[in-house]
Amino acid sequence: PPSYEVIKAKVAECEGLLSLLTDRVDAELMDAAPKLKVIANYAVGYDNIDVDAATARGIKVGNTPGVLTEATADFAFCLMCAAARRIVEGVLYARNGHWHTWEPRGHLGQELWGATIGILGMGRIGYAMAYRAHRGFNMRVLYHDVRENEHAEQNLGAQRVDLDTLLSESDYLSIHTDLNPSTEGLFGREEFAKMKDRAVLINSARGPIVQTEALYEALRDRVIWAAALDVTDPEPLPSDHPLYTLPNCIITPHIASATYTSRNRMAVMAAENILAGLRGDTLPTQVNPEVK
Ligand code: DGY
Repeated sequence: PPSYEVIKAKVAECEGLLSLLTDRVDAELMDAAPKLKVIANYAVGYDNIDVDAATARGIKVGNTPGVLTEATADFAFCLMCAAARRIVEGVLYARNGHWHTWEPRGHLGQELWGATIGILGMGRIGYAMAYRAHRGFNMRVLYHDVRENEHAEQNLGAQRVDLDTLLSESDYLSIHTDLNPSTEGLFGREEFAKMKDRAVLINSARGPIVQTEALYEALRDRVIWAAALDVTDPEPLPSDHPLYTLPNCIITPHIASATYTSRNRMAVMAAENILAGLRGDTLPTQVNPEVK
């Protein structure tokens, strides 16, 4: 990606900015772009943008909600299955010539059917994950969210619980909240210690919600059983990071929304936001609607 300095220099004449989640768009950058009317983030998450600073400068900010919900939930579900049944380990084992016989006690994993899934953040993607788990795999659904989700409670029998209950009762704990000051670093040593030793953590939201060092220790010492991460902190995770050495940790490179359909829809939505902003209209998906 272009460096911050390059973007800052190039944005000087721009009225619209199409940003990726890897681009930090802060007050300093906005001040370098006096003509800027609209920032369209090519992502549903927009923690890379200082929205308050944009609002203060009368700049509209848009994101891409809705169009990547199912793709992201599909992927989070795949990660959960892969971690539970040790699929990556099995693939490497076979590929690397270790498969000599069928072993009654080899490659044992965790059952999915009827297990308890904890959803942190019962928004669109959290709901889509819970739907797959409940309707497809007969799972009991617990969730923790600042808001009640009546739809999830009625449709999926989901039960809203406090964070400690979510941690202690979930066999699978899947993170779907946004990154904000209250969720940053939420998972640390204390939280892992409250989880079941057979628990699997899935993160397809934002890396900094989980403290990387604490997760490494929890997985290494089998405080929890496994983790599957599509997002990490930092991102990209350097290839020599010790997390990669753990067989009970699956890491993918932030690709949960990477389907042809979703990425195309995200592109169209971001383009529509830019065009609306340039026309002076409210954006179709504006995160700071107070800017008119
Ligand atoms: C998002 O949109 O926020 C995802 O992280 C990438 O699609």
